[in-house]
Amino acid sequence: MDVSTAIQQRISTRAFLDKAISKTELEDWLTTAQRAPSGGNLQPWRVIALAGDEKQAVTDMAVETLAGKFKGEPTDRPVYPPDLWEPYDSRRRAIGEQMYAALDIPRENKPARMAWFANNFRFFGAPVALFIVLDERMGHGQWGHTGMFLQTLSLLAVERGWASCMQECWAILRPSLKAHLGLGDTEMVWCGMALGYADKDAPVNSVRSGRAELEEFVEFRGF
Ligand SMILES: Cc1cc2nc3c(=O)[nH]c(=O)nc-3n(C[C@H](O)[C@H](O)[C@H](O)COP(=O)(O)O)c2cc1C
Repeated sequence: MDVSTAIQQRISTRAFLDKAISKTELEDWLTTAQRAPSGGNLQPWRVIALAGDEKQAVTDMAVETLAGKFKGEPTDRPVYPPDLWEPYDSRRRAIGEQMYAALDIPRENKPARMAWFANNFRFFGAPVALFIVLDERMGHGQWGHTGMFLQTLSLLAVERGWASCMQECWAILRPSLKAHLGLGDTEMVWCGMALGYADKDAPVNSVRSGRAELEEFVEFRGF
């Protein structure tokens, strides 16, 4: 598979088959992804991969911790800036509405939307859960470089016939996750990832997100 095909085929998959991926396969995948570049070759990320009981234990912790406080735990690094402005706010709303339309959950049905969101914390049924850990002392550069690592993982997953969903939703559980995973004093979970085989029949996996047109995000000068 060429890179362009992998990029076109990758989507955020939100329903998975109950089909395992072996540790050996994951080791090969992670070793290849480790070729992702990073400024100064810091390779600032660390990965915790969970399956089976270990994965279930994180889900149980999340369900218990979020019961009654759906907004989660306070964080000084929220996923989005407050009062998101245009065009970003509209883009965010659009993908949400696209997803809920595929799921047939109307806006008025808040409980059903919340129940769906909680699926995040079950990794959408994926057999493998990853947590990408960063040292809190790292700056915006290293956060960005870790994003390159995430994208490399997700494209290599496509090449292997797997599917993934990056999961920043775990940001609302950072303190509890830190304790649960036994992270170091200065470590934090930057992002999660659900990994497995896509359930191709699940309506939610039919969502194809839009993108801004070239003219909207590129400025050519001197051509
Ligand atoms: C770093 C990162 C974190 C994300 N976190 C979540 C998440 O917590 N839950 C979720 O359902 N989707 C999550 N997404 C998926 C985005 O909503 C998705 O990438 C975007 O809407 C574009 O859709 P596509 O990935 O299908 O192309 C995340 C994506 C990225 C890159």
